[in-house]
Amino acid sequence: MKNIVVFASGSGSNLQAIINAIIENRIQAKITGLVASKIGIKAIDIAKANHIPVFVTQTDEDLIEAVDSCSPDLIVLAGYLKKIPAALIDLYPGKMINIHPSLLPKYGGKGFYGMNVHRAVIEAKEKESGCTVHIVTTEYDKGPIVAQARISVKPDFTPEDLAAAVLLEEHKLLPKVIQQIINTEN
Ligand code: GRF
Repeated sequence: MKNIVVFASGSGSNLQAIINAIIENRIQAKITGLVASKIGIKAIDIAKANHIPVFVTQTDEDLIEAVDSCSPDLIVLAGYLKKIPAALIDLYPGKMINIHPSLLPKYGGKGFYGMNVHRAVIEAKEKESGCTVHIVTTEYDKGPIVAQARISVKPDFTPEDLAAAVLLEEHKLLPKVIQQIINTEN
């Protein structure tokens, strides 16, 4: 059985999507830990309700120790807003993926997170948007792309509408990619 560690900063809906996929056997793996960027976030409640150990660390050393203690085969960044220490990326080369709510390389990099991404897409009158799963490297949002899902941006979409539509795609794409990666590692 493969071990997955999830990193989250917010509502944890992608964490929930991964948990659902495990329960439904669409992912054959176990979540051995949630790394949360701060206390009080909903992702922690979801982890606790599912008996997943939660780690909130203050230093890079503690973070690395926490991740190591979970023996991850794959690390999934699901809306994690804190910087990942390069030392951690180096310890798990190619084994860390991130989901980003745009069609990278568009709307990625510094400042493009959360609603900022969706506001920029609407302002630019893009006809389509979507989400991207990519390998995490030390260059922010620039690692090799693993998969993307596209949606049409309707003319009357607000940034909030777009965020909701993209999030639904994330919930489908992320579990699919996780299982694909697990399969290729077997
Ligand atoms: C998602 O839009 C993800 O792409 C972004 O942060 C959001 C996380 O949402 N990086 P959730 O915490 O999984 O609900």
